[in-house]
Amino acid sequence: MNLVVVSNRVSRGKPNEPMTGGLAAALLPVVEKSGAIWVGSSGRVRDGNTREPFAEVEALGAGALAMLDLPAAHYGGYYEGFANSALWPALHSRADLIRASQEDYVSYREVNAFMARALLRFRKPDSIFWIQDYHFLALGAEMRDLGVSQPIGFFLHTPWPARAVISGVPNHRELIEAMLAYDLIGFQTEEDCENFLGYVQADLDLVVHDGVISSSSGQTRAAVFPIGIDPDKFAQQATKAMTHPDVSRLRRSLNGEKLAIGVDRLDYSKGLVNRIKAFDRMWTLYPQQKRTTSLLQIATPSRGAIEAYGNLQSEVAKLVTDVNGIHGEVDWTPIRYLNKGFGQAVLAGLYRTAQVGVVTPLQDGMNLVAKEYVAAQNPDNPGVLVLSKFAGAANELDAALLVNPHDIDGMARSIATALSMPLTERRMRWEAMMAKLNTSTIQQWFASFIEALQDTQVAGTVAHEPPTLWPRRATDLAARYH
Ligand code: UDP
Ligand code: G6P
Repeated sequence: MNLVVVSNRVSRGKPNEPMTGGLAAALLPVVEKSGAIWVGSSGRVRDGNTREPFAEVEALGAGALAMLDLPAAHYGGYYEGFANSALWPALHSRADLIRASQEDYVSYREVNAFMARALLRFRKPDSIFWIQDYHFLALGAEMRDLGVSQPIGFFLHTPWPARAVISGVPNHRELIEAMLAYDLIGFQTEEDCENFLGYVQADLDLVVHDGVISSSSGQTRAAVFPIGIDPDKFAQQATKAMTHPDVSRLRRSLNGEKLAIGVDRLDYSKGLVNRIKAFDRMWTLYPQQKRTTSLLQIATPSRGAIEAYGNLQSEVAKLVTDVNGIHGEVDWTPIRYLNKGFGQAVLAGLYRTAQVGVVTPLQDGMNLVAKEYVAAQNPDNPGVLVLSKFAGAANELDAALLVNPHDIDGMARSIATALSMPLTERRMRWEAMMAKLNTSTIQQWFASFIEALQDTQVAGTVAHEPPTLWPRRATDLAARYH
């Protein structure tokens, strides 16, 4: 088997560099160990002839990384436009933030078509393709159009919302029909999978039997594969990181204070505003927690060229300043707010130093930070995870203190409970969560998806034609809209 993994974001596996998001963090060990080739964006763009994609290829563990320069004329419309200003808000149930022009859609399709052409270079007779995330909903259909008959799987790292919300995305029907070119579509949770199948049945009027969708393009299986981490690796990194200068300095600076930690991309799905309001409320409701507790919030910059992200950055910075101004003392800063990233080898030590991990997204596909926080704890004296019930991770980590991120008072109470939880209860909860992490690792996620993808061939569910409504080429589409 020759596995070709495809995503927009890739990681070059530099140990001291921060990971940009959970997708890259999850795929890196998979590619390094399996020997797959990972194809993605180089982060650079290129003018001129986009029919001949340029890729820089380098070794990555037992595998390889191929980084493509994406077409300059379409990159903005694809990445900042359709992917992150139409699909991302819709997938996180923020229909109010959907912004998309028809030009953005054309660019999205052009980049999907470009990637399909680029992949031909990496195709072998026994290849199987595994496409990742919402940047490439249409890639499978473009590949079928170019005659690729090998198995193609797709995994969505984000949630899939209710029908009414996804219908707010321009061209949603065409895109979801295009997804039926995949043999297997994987989701993080049962709810995501059910929402997707609900759309397919009600809006596309297709028959679904045992998770298998029958359409004019063939058969597509939809199933759930909750993504995991490597808990042993995180535990080892955390122990080692305790002597790292950044971690030592943090510990010295605490002077016996308790620490809560939040680690998120600066994204409106992460619930940062509500979280900071909850800490504000907690220090008001429980003044005894003043001076004895602080929050370290790492908020790594993300997608800064998009207006909604720029607005969020200003809003969070102002709120932090206000809360520190109201509650702070000459020798105590309630919230330590950092707009930068850390390598995972240091991050693991920061997690282990904190008595409470706060992971309170409004919506999240899985949220790997929640799992990493648990894995990094000291088994003899573990910290407490405060986790949003709207993160995919809440399905497995139900021994966390589960919170509703819209209920500020409720979150304030749960944070206070976490800060004073007795050791016996902390241990009981931590052990229950570790048991889940150990039975659902990243390597198991990989193996079960690939096995299911190969099974779609054995079961003979593959006979994929390009979808009937699918314009034959991205250029036909451009003509349609101009
Ligand atoms: N991360 C990192 N350095 C940082 C912040 C985050 O390496 O400073 C990593 C973190 O360890 C995790 C990933 O980025 O693996 C974030 O994944 P998650 O699923 O929590 O959220 P996403 O950003 O994908 O929405
Ligand atoms: C989420 C998405 C990933 C994306 C990551 C970071 O995890 O599911 O596809 O790579 O965020 O976002 P960025 O836009 O910087 O790649």
